[in-house]
Amino acid sequence: MKLIFATNNKHKVREIASLLDDSYTVLGLNDVDIFEDIREDGETLEDNALHKARYVFERTGMNVFADDTGLEVDELNGAPGVHSARFAGENKDPDANITKLLGLLAGKSNRKARFRTVIALIFNKKEYLFEGTVKGEIIDVRRGTEGFGYDPVFLADGYEQTFAEIPLSEKNRISHRARATRKLLNFLSTHHQSQ
Ligand code: IMP
Repeated sequence: MKLIFATNNKHKVREIASLLDDSYTVLGLNDVDIFEDIREDGETLEDNALHKARYVFERTGMNVFADDTGLEVDELNGAPGVHSARFAGENKDPDANITKLLGLLAGKSNRKARFRTVIALIFNKKEYLFEGTVKGEIIDVRRGTEGFGYDPVFLADGYEQTFAEIPLSEKNRISHRARATRKLLNFLSTHHQSQ
């Protein structure tokens, strides 16, 4: 069965394909001739993920899933959340985003935060949402060079190293994205037999 992952990132497509059994063929947006940027200006991660999945479903009629991720900081009432990529401006500069975040949290004692990934799946015309979160805190200086985005200032609960210091294999085991993806894979592996 063909399944579209609403992304242009070939690595993400390959990664999911390697985790699914052979009954699925995973396609990226370019494989189905969708080259435009699908807008991501919803108010929630759920809005954005669903919008992307619906857009592709309307264009192709095929089973599709889409994801969206944000960093939710308690002291900032959940910000940057759905605006995580563009927190400090349209050019999506991760370093500027961290600088802005640390500025807003300067002197604050509540540093609690979590990463949250939402995956929207349209499967046999029905919609499903899967969520994965990882809780932690924002430290006040950058540490580490691995990873991306807010990783240098995010310390997951129970860890003394930031997401930019722990090995990628470990991050990929415990991350928000890993948790949401496992739920999706679980759904897909239990549903394809009944098709
Ligand atoms: P996306 O929905 O995967 O594109 O993620 C949106 C934004 O959230 C990214 O541009 C990053 O700023 C942030 N983000 C998502 N996942 C991670 C992560 O694993 N570590 C650090 N930042 C992340």
